[in-house]
Amino acid sequence: MELEHKIENQEARICVMGLGYVGLPLAVEFARLGYRVTGLDIDAQRVGSILEGESYIQDVSGSDVAELVESGLLRATDDPEILRQMDIIFICVPTPFTKTKTPDLSYVVAASEEIARRLQPGQLIVLQSTTYPGTTEEDVLPILEGSGLAAGRDFHLAFSPERVNPGDRRYDVTNTPKVVGGVSPRCAQLAQLVLKKLMPEVYIVSSPRAAEMTKLLENIFRSVNIALINELAKLSERMNIDIWEVIQAASTKPFGFMPFYPGPGVGGHCVPVDPYYLFWKSREYDFYPRFIELAAELNQGMPYHVVSKISEALNSRGRTLQQAKVLVLGVSFKPDVDDARNAPAQRVIELLLSGGAHVSYNDPHIDRFTVGKDVFYPDEQALTSTPLTDELVQGQDCVVIVAGHRSYDYQWIVDQAPVVVDTMNATKGIQASAGKIFKVGAPSPRS
Ligand SMILES: NC(=O)c1ccc[n+]([C@@H]2O[C@H](COP(=O)([O-])OP(=O)(O)OC[C@H]3O[C@@H](n4cnc5c(N)ncnc54)[C@H](O)[C@@H]3O)[C@@H](O)[C@H]2O)c1
Repeated sequence: MELEHKIENQEARICVMGLGYVGLPLAVEFARLGYRVTGLDIDAQRVGSILEGESYIQDVSGSDVAELVESGLLRATDDPEILRQMDIIFICVPTPFTKTKTPDLSYVVAASEEIARRLQPGQLIVLQSTTYPGTTEEDVLPILEGSGLAAGRDFHLAFSPERVNPGDRRYDVTNTPKVVGGVSPRCAQLAQLVLKKLMPEVYIVSSPRAAEMTKLLENIFRSVNIALINELAKLSERMNIDIWEVIQAASTKPFGFMPFYPGPGVGGHCVPVDPYYLFWKSREYDFYPRFIELAAELNQGMPYHVVSKISEALNSRGRTLQQAKVLVLGVSFKPDVDDARNAPAQRVIELLLSGGAHVSYNDPHIDRFTVGKDVFYPDEQALTSTPLTDELVQGQDCVVIVAGHRSYDYQWIVDQAPVVVDTMNATKGIQASAGKIFKVGAPSPRS
């Protein structure tokens, strides 16, 4: 039967390779539509959780997983042999960077090799991992064609970037439009057909590389704008201006302005990583994009700025970083999520430790947080989230808000702490005695 008919009749068997923040929601939503979905992951623990009907991703409900597994629509395995039986395979594996910030495509390559060994005529492969333009055609396609089958003729290949935004209560995989680029027009149309079952709009571009570049544009747009506001925040501190007040005022303009906010730096799997993917690839073209690298550098400088703010706050109390007790609130990469990958808190804590401070942290979403074993702090430090109590907060020399989770009672924190460094305006509107709150992007308080 033609793949079109299988998709229309919910008879297409779907495999999602990589059951993480991107892959698990995708697998669950297709299963919910009535497709038989198999999640394939090399992480036996994740596979085991799904089979037990449990979710390890905050935005995916455990009861949904349990129900779908029970009904037989969703299953999980670490056996790549199941790839042979699939009609459609989504690749949602990680695309991290190395210590020196060069792209690490090893997961995409390994996943492509697993597929190539078992590739069947008629299968549709859709790469969703964020990557540099050219990956689908220059890296994935030759591996798949090593099977002897030809893309666009014997099997179908497309790239469709993922736009999932963890912690977002308004937009999820079912109401966020998607972009797709195929190796041939039919490849793109097939990918559009299946994705359209899930979301209202699937926009076709002329090639996989245009789709790959679309994702990078979206994230580099954010990186550059965040860097701009971070730079203006530091300038505002010197000029005795509150950038938060300025952003609010500028936001009254109904056109031509979009607010971005300063903070402790950027984190997660996307904004700190993706610019380097494009930067690295562009060098092959004798092109050195200056905006992209400058923005990344400015954002990476923010944890250092936060630590200098902490020193300033400690100074105001006659203390130095050496031997100071510092409590970090929120170590996830942004508020209200359970993902701490590349979180700015990591560098903040490493710099505090290397400055001689005693650091503890609290995060309702992250139980354990390991820092160090890098050039910033050679020893590995495995920290565990400390319960927030009056004694804990009162016993600190400084409390620093790095990820401003909604669940925190900021009035209580400010009341208990001797001095607070707020990296993201979480204490907006909170009553505090003079000299109590040092805010990134605002003039230092005079006690
Ligand atoms: N997390 C996000 O918010 C987000 C948003 C948009 C795009 N992305 C992109 O999506 C991709 C996946 O990100 P993620 O956050 O879901 O990663 P993740 O680490 O949460 O999940 C990836 C999963 O892939 C599995 N895996 C690795 N190699 C495999 C293989 N050969 N076969 C099967 N499974 C394999 C891992 O065990 C892991 O469970 C990345 O390219 C990322 O940049 C992520």
